[in-house]
Amino acid sequence: MPGSSQMAPSHTDRVFVIQGARPLAGCVRVSAAKNSVLKLMAAALLAESPSVIHAVPDIEDVRIMIELLEVLGARVRREGSSLVIEPTVSTCVAPYELVSKMRASIVVLGPLTARFGEAHVSLPGGCNIGRRKTDLHLAGLAALGAEVSTNRGFITARARKLKGGEISLHFPSVGATENLMMAAVLAEGTTVIDNAAREPEIVDLADFLRKMGADIAGDGTSTIMVRGVSKLEGCEHAPIPDRIEAGTYILAGVATRSSIAVEGARPDHLEFFLEKLRQAGGQFEIGDGAIVVAQEQRLKGIDVPTMPYPGFPTDLQPQMMAALATADGLSIITENVFENRFLHADELVRMGADIDIKGSHAVVRGVETLYGVPVRAADLRGGAALVIAALGARGVTEIRGVNHIMRGYENLVEKLRGLGADVRMEVTESGSDLETGD
Ligand code: UD1
Repeated sequence: MPGSSQMAPSHTDRVFVIQGARPLAGCVRVSAAKNSVLKLMAAALLAESPSVIHAVPDIEDVRIMIELLEVLGARVRREGSSLVIEPTVSTCVAPYELVSKMRASIVVLGPLTARFGEAHVSLPGGCNIGRRKTDLHLAGLAALGAEVSTNRGFITARARKLKGGEISLHFPSVGATENLMMAAVLAEGTTVIDNAAREPEIVDLADFLRKMGADIAGDGTSTIMVRGVSKLEGCEHAPIPDRIEAGTYILAGVATRSSIAVEGARPDHLEFFLEKLRQAGGQFEIGDGAIVVAQEQRLKGIDVPTMPYPGFPTDLQPQMMAALATADGLSIITENVFENRFLHADELVRMGADIDIKGSHAVVRGVETLYGVPVRAADLRGGAALVIAALGARGVTEIRGVNHIMRGYENLVEKLRGLGADVRMEVTESGSDLETGD
């Protein structure tokens, strides 16, 4: 309303205070992949019996997904670091309060429709990093015979029994591929998803579903074939390691010219990223169960276009930008997946970086050094980029908006301290930040 003042409710935020320009040293272990775990949790709803997911990271997004499953009627408990999910669903309504906090909530759409014949999932709404459309999720479910509509802020899907169908995605959307794969496993007949996303998290989800009794082939390629089965049973699964967390620590090591071992990272999930980093003068070796960074020289400018997997991951673009901000020479970073994923650039400029944004391109002219100033994270990976910049910067950087970062990085402060970083977290009162990022 023009002229009206809409005060955001005050809540606590956390601030990272980082004393930079200190090389890191030692080992850090990556947690299980956030973007896999969230989907496995939703997939557990498809089974007739409980599932166990091991080594689930204790991060905000997982807590939100637990809350969502509980709102749906499932029983979820932690046993050590494992999560036991009893799929006792009593309602098929995913409310706005939860979906708006985490867009990945939309992955309950496929499982609920497939197993219970209906789903009402709040439309997630806007996001800082670009439009997060749902057309592919909806058209795909319709192709499987669901009646799909959007009304009063909710997506509704209904089908007495889904039927196998042919689906061709106009973009290899990760979330749509996952939703449709989960819908198709209990459909009657065969489903083919063309131009499917090929991310390692898709393969992990397919592995989980196969353990439950699903019949899926072609995951990891652009064509996934699912033969529907009549029912699924719960299973036990240890998710893949988080390739984005791994890449973040690797870039922290490279940007601070450090020697660190990133343990548990899977190089086969990071091939294109590592190739690009090597081109930029990144010094690292693939060790036994770890990627070992031993960076002595300054990085060189390079071109980085983000692409769906197996291309350069958009979720590592901000962190790569932070590392290239102090490279020798010019880098051009092109964001091809999201429309507006350069929010971190202006904050990096405040720290002394030389970056121009031209449409989907960021022109980064490497500077000798960055300087610690107060900055604000506006989304999860952009926040991680600020952490990397701060670790390399001269002086003290205060990063606000840490709540965004904590959505996806387990024990970030402890892990960084384990590498010898001078980081502490302070709690402050601040205005409310909406969910943003991935
Ligand atoms: C997932 C990841 C996120 C990552 C992204 C791309 C999770 C929880 N999040 O998000 O970290 O950055 O993949 O690798 O796994 N699109 C459409 N129509 C649709 C759906 C998507 O046009 O129906 C477009 C989006 O607007 C966006 C692009 O496709 O521009 C990528 O989105 P998508 O692959 O669906 O990302 P998410 O699954 O939301």
